[in-house]
Amino acid sequence: MITWITFEMSTNTDGLTPIVQYGQSELNHKSFGYATAWMNGNRTSFVNRVMLNHLKPDVIYLYRCGNEQNQIWSKTFKFRSKPENEEEWSPKIALFGDMGLVNGRSIPYLNERSKNMEYDVIFHSGDIAYNLHELNGKLGDEFMRKMEPAISTIPYQTAVGNHEWFQNFTHYTNRYTMTDSLTGDQNNYYYSFNVGPVHFISISSEFYFWYLNQGEFPSHDIENIKIQYDWLKRDLIEANRPENRRKRPWIIVAAHRAMYCSPWMWTILRKGIPIVYRWGLEDILYEYGVDMYIGAHEHTYERLFPIYNRRVYNGSLDNPYRNPKAPVHFLVGSGGCRELVDPFINHPAPWSAKRISDYGITELHVMNKTHIRIQQRSTHNVTDLQTYGKIVDSILLVKERHGKEAWF
Ligand SMILES: [Fe+2]
Repeated sequence: MITWITFEMSTNTDGLTPIVQYGQSELNHKSFGYATAWMNGNRTSFVNRVMLNHLKPDVIYLYRCGNEQNQIWSKTFKFRSKPENEEEWSPKIALFGDMGLVNGRSIPYLNERSKNMEYDVIFHSGDIAYNLHELNGKLGDEFMRKMEPAISTIPYQTAVGNHEWFQNFTHYTNRYTMTDSLTGDQNNYYYSFNVGPVHFISISSEFYFWYLNQGEFPSHDIENIKIQYDWLKRDLIEANRPENRRKRPWIIVAAHRAMYCSPWMWTILRKGIPIVYRWGLEDILYEYGVDMYIGAHEHTYERLFPIYNRRVYNGSLDNPYRNPKAPVHFLVGSGGCRELVDPFINHPAPWSAKRISDYGITELHVMNKTHIRIQQRSTHNVTDLQTYGKIVDSILLVKERHGKEAWF
């Protein structure tokens, strides 16, 4: 799906609105899409969306987007289509949360690495732009322009964060188009996609934090906690069907807020809403053998030992991440924003394996069905080429078995 925003409706006389022209060496194919008008403040934006289907596998395509009637076109960009045999593919995923226009330390790094298409997915785990709605949305536009070199080439996937709250999360719901690969439904709050041997699930932690203000935020009424939970269960059941888990043994779940981080725990996420303790995430992730949980919100990087119910379940004393007996959690909220980084408390909890209070990008290199290399790259000093992008943490997660049976 190619998405872009214009400030004039790009509908042509047939009503067959936005167009993407694409091809391998020349732009000799085209696909039509649709535009939706969206009022923010006193201006109207048009979100143009075009889906490209029937792409050849593992090919670099050139493309541009625009409108034939007016002959107004974007620059020509490029992307690489998925390989034919996804099971044998070793994709790289860039992860971060909490990245803004001001002090967005990791943006130049993403743009540089994307020139040679070194990533296959860029995942922004909530808190986008700081803030998408400011300056009547122009700040959000500028953030997307700054990210354009990377995210015009590499798929940009998102989760919603608390900073997207403005006017019932309108900028988040309108600007982006997250598509559930199983149903084809658009849902920016919860959806899943497959990339190589990974089934990646993005959910909203924010449903758990805004339901008490549902009058102001109707998209976050209490019912949504249950609806998302039921969707997650269905998605996990499907991903765990033997033929699916054989093809894609890794299941990764990401949301804006971490369940555990050094300063505190989000018990509401782990156990569900108070008093009734329903729709908690920790049990369902454990039950369906989820391998990794990714959170952000705290502006730090933190790697946890495998954990369930506040107890550490290392694979072994020598090698905690070889055949761990519980999901492995990461906190990746250090993309860089105007709120700077957060400090740590002096005495970390026993489940905290590595803490870095600095800016950075977390890379997942999914080597195959049993090995993922996870590395943290510092993006602290944008002007120092010696240290910019330096690896500051690295582990190899090895799982010879996946699913709930891997825990025993
Ligand atoms: Fe946040």
